[in-house]
Amino acid sequence: MDADIRSKVETNRRNWEARTPVHLASRFYDVHNDTDRLAPFEWAELGDVAGLRIAHLQCHLGTDTRCLARAGAKMTGLDFSESSVAAARELAGDLDITYVQSDVHDAVEALGGGFDLVYTGKGSLMWLPDLYRWAEIVRDLLAPGGRLYLVEFHPLAWMLNQDFEIVGNYLPEATSYDSSRTYTDGPELAADTVNYQWNHSLGELVTTLNRAGLRVTELHEHPVLAWDQWPGMERDPVTGWWRLPAHRPKIPLTYSLTAVR
Ligand SMILES: C[S@@+](CC[C@H](N)C(=O)[O-])C[C@H]1O[C@@H](n2cnc3c(N)ncnc32)[C@H](O)[C@@H]1O
Repeated sequence: MDADIRSKVETNRRNWEARTPVHLASRFYDVHNDTDRLAPFEWAELGDVAGLRIAHLQCHLGTDTRCLARAGAKMTGLDFSESSVAAARELAGDLDITYVQSDVHDAVEALGGGFDLVYTGKGSLMWLPDLYRWAEIVRDLLAPGGRLYLVEFHPLAWMLNQDFEIVGNYLPEATSYDSSRTYTDGPELAADTVNYQWNHSLGELVTTLNRAGLRVTELHEHPVLAWDQWPGMERDPVTGWWRLPAHRPKIPLTYSLTAVR
């Protein structure tokens, strides 16, 4: 990683330290509520995780990590935000979860290898400047035959504003932001409002994974999102996930991908 990218990742780390206390107190994360955060499609595609050694990269407050641990997986969560990892440890309660503070770019040194599954996503890839470097790290974390399971917000949905006009990039592009607001409810950030993001297209992702030696076996696009991004979205009373009303275009809001080492 060159010095400029390293300094941008460090700026992001500080930005995440500023976001964490806001997220911890937010209704959005509702961290003491132990409801299932994974969508039914995730459980269906993951299959039985009981007994699997799973590395959850960029685990933030551990909300999804705990769901997988409750399903019987042996979980290790990794995040570069010290306050996120500290909160995740406390929130784990009686669950046997290992949390490690590390930059994802150092994940192999921090966690070793031999994992059955790497679980990641839901707002993670956009923080990664070099997808090929990340794909190599995922490969090296996995045991031969191990799987990557990735769930991300669909880049198509990311391009649209509240009026469904295209205002964002689809093709990969680095963007800098300076905003005192994070994506949850709660107060403004106290400091460190600058952050850098890198959007990634589906073609870039699939090609990069294959080049790194991970065979993409499934790529699904889903019409549901974990929150109500647009006015009028309808919430499934059972899953809690949101979909667009019938008069809106049929577009994917989330995708999930499986790749095998
Ligand atoms: C939107 S959160 C991911 C969220 C998680 N799926 C959830 O719903 O809570 C993004 C996470 O990525 C972490 N992150 C960003 N860049 C990172 C990096 N280079 N190394 C490790 N963690 C990173 C942040 O600290 C944050 O916890």
